[in-house]
Amino acid sequence: MLAIVQISLTICATGLLMTDAYKITDKFGIGRRYDGIGGISGGGATSKLLVSYPEPQRSQILDLLFKKQYGAALQILKVEIGGDGQSSAGSESSHMHEPWDESYHRGYEWWLMKEAKKRNPDILLSALSWSFPGWVGNYGSNPYKNVSKLAYYTVSWIKGAKEVHNLTIDFIGIWNEKMWNNDYILELRSSLDSNGFEKTKIVAPDTFGIEYTGFEKLFENATLRNAVYAIGVHYPGTELPLNMRTNGVPLWSSEDYSTYNDDVGAGCWARILNQNYVNGNMTSTISWNLIASYYSALPFERDGLMTAMHPWSGHYNIDNPIWITAHTTHFASVGWNYLKHGKGSGKLGAGGSFVSLTNGKDLTIIIETLSHNHSICIRPSLPAYNVAEQSVTFVFSGSFSAIKTLHLYTTRFFFDGRSTVPFEKQADAIITDSKLTLRLAVDAVYTLSTILSPGRVEPKDIPAASEFPLPYSDNFDSYAVDEGPHYLAQQNGAWEVVKSEGESFVRQKALNREIAWCDQTFVATAALIGDIKWHDISVSIRVRVPSSKGANTLFAALRSSFYGCNEDKATGLFLWLNPNTTTYWISYDIASLRIAYIGHLPTPFQLDQWHTASLSAVGSIFSIGIDSYSISVAVEKGATSHGFVVFGSQGYGYSDWDDLHIESGVDDIFFK
Ligand SMILES: *[C@@H]1O[C@H](CO)[C@@H](O)[C@H](O)[C@H]1NC(C)=O
Ligand SMILES: *[C@@H]1O[C@H](CO)[C@@H](O)[C@H](O)[C@H]1NC(C)=O
Ligand SMILES: *[C@@H]1O[C@H](CO)[C@@H](O)[C@H](O)[C@H]1NC(C)=O
Ligand SMILES: *[C@@H]1O[C@H](CO)[C@@H](O)[C@H](O)[C@H]1NC(C)=O
Ligand SMILES: *[C@@H]1O[C@H](CO)[C@@H](O)[C@H](O)[C@H]1NC(C)=O
Ligand SMILES: *[C@@H]1O[C@H](CO)[C@@H](O)[C@H](O)[C@H]1NC(C)=O
Repeated sequence: MLAIVQISLTICATGLLMTDAYKITDKFGIGRRYDGIGGISGGGATSKLLVSYPEPQRSQILDLLFKKQYGAALQILKVEIGGDGQSSAGSESSHMHEPWDESYHRGYEWWLMKEAKKRNPDILLSALSWSFPGWVGNYGSNPYKNVSKLAYYTVSWIKGAKEVHNLTIDFIGIWNEKMWNNDYILELRSSLDSNGFEKTKIVAPDTFGIEYTGFEKLFENATLRNAVYAIGVHYPGTELPLNMRTNGVPLWSSEDYSTYNDDVGAGCWARILNQNYVNGNMTSTISWNLIASYYSALPFERDGLMTAMHPWSGHYNIDNPIWITAHTTHFASVGWNYLKHGKGSGKLGAGGSFVSLTNGKDLTIIIETLSHNHSICIRPSLPAYNVAEQSVTFVFSGSFSAIKTLHLYTTRFFFDGRSTVPFEKQADAIITDSKLTLRLAVDAVYTLSTILSPGRVEPKDIPAASEFPLPYSDNFDSYAVDEGPHYLAQQNGAWEVVKSEGESFVRQKALNREIAWCDQTFVATAALIGDIKWHDISVSIRVRVPSSKGANTLFAALRSSFYGCNEDKATGLFLWLNPNTTTYWISYDIASLRIAYIGHLPTPFQLDQWHTASLSAVGSIFSIGIDSYSISVAVEKGATSHGFVVFGSQGYGYSDWDDLHIESGVDDIFFK
């Protein structure tokens, strides 16, 4: 079925559909500068599983995100500056856990930025902190306590990007979804300038809804005005307050989308990409998140442009938000301009919207006709509106009066059982007498452009999904120093490979509470692995607490769930060990509110020594072992019946972990 039927104006006048005419012109000047479409890796740990993908799938996915005119062809990559604290689906490691513990080889964001640059040297890099290590705020909860310290911390990261990774950071933010601080904005600007980063621009405040109201008032102060490149807001619902829209400062939706990536999610993305400009004068939209590459049982399942959460099998999904992004990014570059409202951008008579983009020579028009129920985003709520099938006539003038044909690409969503046909190249549209009439279906996206794209070309033979492979072992010998182990998803703290005295192991390295992004009442460092469905499972791991800077209380848990910002409410079967003492206990939750058993080891749990801990859950029996000691307890009704394998410590301090082994059912080595 043809997505579009071209009909002449005469037929239209006597036909069934009304035809509205819309000007496409630069005769009276052009609209705002287009700043690009982006994706956020982080906030938090949203690309954790991607880095563990096998080849060729890993490169295929990176191509789909970043390669020019291929998949999403993103123009901005925004990353989290890790702060050791939970920031949604995990924590990311800071480059400075303490002022004396600095490294630019932690986490996967450096790798990701370099892979993005390889595929598109023009991609712009943006960075923002969610949490900060405690020392930045003198171990309190306010990062602005000493703004020069905070600027030093942030600029160190930008310097590390340049000096260690040859990456230029184009945009830097303040503090994700928390209040901004004027003195810090000025301090950051002057610190960037004095360190040779005059070209790194500040985007602020990255706050939510009503919280950003008033930010524009700062700009009555010219010093502040000059310090900030763009106002970045989150989840604006395509609208902004009038005084923001009129003060001339570039406006960005610097975090948006956050919606399950089925076709309604793709519809949400199509609608906001156009309407953020049409309704809100915003010229850049950045998706949280870039790619859903974290365990599906963590919060915000599949809220990315595509999905890659099966690294062990290489399976991934190219979800339709990728192709919706392509409708704009294949046909317009950062630095182009939108056409003005009423001159190439606006609402359509029977519902939907269109925007035009130009570089003065080339022209791209993107039209969306997404209906209300098929374009709802996770937030904010969407007021009711109607969209009907309609016929539209574009009338070209100014620089565009000589255009004779436009390449045409369509996405049709059906929502009636028929599958979506995303980003399909159609026959060129012919412009006659500077006019083009199109019949628009409901729930569709159209791109008309002088620029040619290959259209949708995608990898074939994506492997089928499979379960997390068991038995599973990792002795952590195959990693570089500071690397995070495969599949081990840190939820709080910083879990990094350490090589010392010929041994390679994982250490939790955060020593003090971070300046948190989530509100958590009970604070535990934790890293999880596996599958939320795991029920009968056996684990052994070697564990050691160093006498210097060691953690106070350690745990290992099975059948554990509720992580992300809910970590303080995590449940499961927890074994707790206390350095220097014989006392251990078993609890049903991370906060040890429900204790199952308190016991004593034959000898105290010694510091600086490796111990072997083993845990096994089979039906209603939970068995634990510490070195040669073991015991089994009956699990009470109401305890969580399935979940991840998790390790960690109450509070902060080093804990070392090695030789992880997981298998299903009873582990014969430990439990006879
Ligand atoms: C703020 O931090 C800087 C280091 O970045 C330090 O030199 C200065 O003494 C600190 N100021 C106060 C008041 O603590
Ligand atoms: C650093 O990156 C730039 C491109 O941004 C490139 O021209 C230059 O050769 C790179 N330098 C090194 C040392 O790799
Ligand atoms: C602009 O704001 C800064 C930071 O709050 C302040 O130090 C400065 O005095 C202000 N300038 C004017 C002219 O008000
Ligand atoms: C902002 O958007 C409104 C429509 O919502 C439009 O009338 C106005 O011209 C735009 N202003 C700028 C400066 O882009
Ligand atoms: C949209 O969804 C609501 C709630 O599910 C439903 O009541 C309504 O009929 C739907 N509208 C259309 C046009 O399908
Ligand atoms: C354990 O005992 C050692 C030696 O007595 C002491 O230095 C250390 O602080 C104790 N650690 C804990 C966590 O109790």
